[in-house]
Amino acid sequence: MIAKRIKQVPPSGIREFFDLVLGMPDVISLGVGEPDFITPWRIREKAITALEEGFTSYTSNSGLFSLRRDISNNFKKKYSLSYNPDKEILITVGVSEGFDLALRAILDPRDKVIVVSPYYVAYPALVEINSGRAIYLVTKEQEGFKISPEALSKLVEQKPKAIILNYPSNPTGITYSHQELKEIWRILSRKEVIIISDETYEELTYEQKHVCFSSLDKKAKQQTILLNGFSKGQAMTGFRVGFACGNEKIISAMTKIHSYSMLCGPIISQIAACEALRAKEDIAYMRREYKRRRNFIAEELNRLGLFTIKPQGAFYCFSSLKKYKVNSLDFAKQLLFKEKIAVVPGRAFGKDFDSYIRISYANSLDNLKEAIVRIERFLKAL
Ligand SMILES: Cc1ncc(COP(=O)(O)O)c(C=O)c1O
Repeated sequence: MIAKRIKQVPPSGIREFFDLVLGMPDVISLGVGEPDFITPWRIREKAITALEEGFTSYTSNSGLFSLRRDISNNFKKKYSLSYNPDKEILITVGVSEGFDLALRAILDPRDKVIVVSPYYVAYPALVEINSGRAIYLVTKEQEGFKISPEALSKLVEQKPKAIILNYPSNPTGITYSHQELKEIWRILSRKEVIIISDETYEELTYEQKHVCFSSLDKKAKQQTILLNGFSKGQAMTGFRVGFACGNEKIISAMTKIHSYSMLCGPIISQIAACEALRAKEDIAYMRREYKRRRNFIAEELNRLGLFTIKPQGAFYCFSSLKKYKVNSLDFAKQLLFKEKIAVVPGRAFGKDFDSYIRISYANSLDNLKEAIVRIERFLKAL
């Protein structure tokens, strides 16, 4: 009954592992990719008021004009980037829908898409679901898990239709400087590769300033589908609201699919998202908290011999198990059963990463401190 290409897609490695976690009491979960903060009050209040005022209808397929206009103004202010809110911005149901629409709009069967690994689990799965073929650019710890220009130059010779970029990165927490992005763009600009740039963790950048890929130059803007949303930096995962920006042709194709399959994003969430664009202090507060936790946990993990590159963004540490010579699934299962700490086995993010675990620090500092005590005890008994 099920289509062959769907059968071939493996279930999410994270899901498989977290089925084990469900139902176990007193587990400290460092597994989830979700903020532990409740959405800031001023955003929730706006949603409540909108509901009370009777905003319960569909919106236009592209989303509320006021939200598209505010997103456009925000980009102008931050990056001097100009997106026409009428034709170059689409409001989606989370970045997830934006990503799916982007692939559906551009891929013909068997088109190749460069997936940088370790990757966010949805990337290769959705490429395959949309009849494309993922080709992998495997990054290395010694190179800071960053795209090597040599590896990229080689892969573009295979004539891929698109490349997926994600920075700050899930699962490594690394991000790119202006100079590094320019080097990537120098290679991609010579080819007709569409860049799908998932910048969903933009607001969670700790030291340097985030550089938006489409702001590199005019041609980069034309060739890039920029995806972003409100789930992470604004702690709004349950609102399900994101957006895609790109050239008129691509956004119009994505809007066509969206208008048949989804109609529009939820109106209450879109109204709340307008408020989120103004909630700068709340966002800055959460960013400061994540940074404090990052400073603590990255240092502690390194002290314990779980080598971790200090994350520059998002809320993940990608830690090496090489010193302990154990594979990621065994490590994660034993840590769960013995010490009730849940982390994600690295193999979920690519077959080359079975000697890593992903640890999310979207958890309270107290829980992180307790987790480190338990991990230390666990490692001593290994
Ligand atoms: C890199 C990345 N992109 C997209 C998403 C999905 O975001 P949304 O909740 O906006 O659909 C996630 C969620 O974990 C993510 O880590």
